[in-house]
Amino acid sequence: MRFTFRPLHPHFVAEVTGPRLQDVHDPADLARLRAAMDQYAVLVWHDQPFADDEQLDFAQRFDGVLHARTSLAVLGRNRFGNDALTDVSNVDEHGDIMAADDRRRVSSVSNRLWHTDASFVDPPGRYSMLSARVIPPVRADTEFADMRAAWDALDAETRAQIEHLHAHHSIAYSRQVLGFEFDAAERDKLAGVVQPLVRTLPRTGRRALYLASHASRIVEWPVPEGRLLLRDLIEHATRPEFVYAHEWHVGDFVIWDNRSTMHRARPFDDRAHRRELRRTTTLDID
Ligand SMILES: [Fe+2]
Repeated sequence: MRFTFRPLHPHFVAEVTGPRLQDVHDPADLARLRAAMDQYAVLVWHDQPFADDEQLDFAQRFDGVLHARTSLAVLGRNRFGNDALTDVSNVDEHGDIMAADDRRRVSSVSNRLWHTDASFVDPPGRYSMLSARVIPPVRADTEFADMRAAWDALDAETRAQIEHLHAHHSIAYSRQVLGFEFDAAERDKLAGVVQPLVRTLPRTGRRALYLASHASRIVEWPVPEGRLLLRDLIEHATRPEFVYAHEWHVGDFVIWDNRSTMHRARPFDDRAHRRELRRTTTLDID
């Protein structure tokens, strides 16, 4: 066995040990990791350092096409020169901690709301991968919630009520909720999309709630009832029994399946400490 998987939660998440991912090229090894993603939805590596080009190469080898139409790509220049390598940090292009009113910082504060990556584009995000480069000396966890377990725990009446509904997802909405406004030109580049509220995962047949702070309304329902349903479902799906908190260390690498999980960043004193991670997200294309 090239890889070993140690479960970290009753429903999902496993820690992986095995060869360095830079050295994993064998299609059978990559298929084994994808099968583990189907089972665990979140995989965690420690001591898996990546250079930027190595991370980009692995992401494409693992799952194909990368998401580059990110909100950060709309807000300004990417300091790595590649919009597919998302700068998940509080550092500006000069290497300094961002000003409190930097629009990129104010926008990224919305990552503290429960969400799934790139649900606001078509095709949406499939796998996201975070590589930890600089980690503060205080906890700044990322929390994950299992949307399959959340679906499984719903009663039959609720399932029947919601399984054919659709939600409109827009990143402009999730930012607006916390008081951030894109201008008209930015909004044009970030028009939202309609997604099913419940997804069936192709290889396992498991069903999952497809929720996010980006979900602005239920298409088939009046806006207030739809927003209340979304709030109720997110409240249900993020009960402690469905949640895993990842405490970051330098060199950690985490992959999650955006079709079957939600996640959120937890707050820390980002005016005092640097925190730098790099994200690659693939698109849900068969
Ligand atoms: Fe995210």
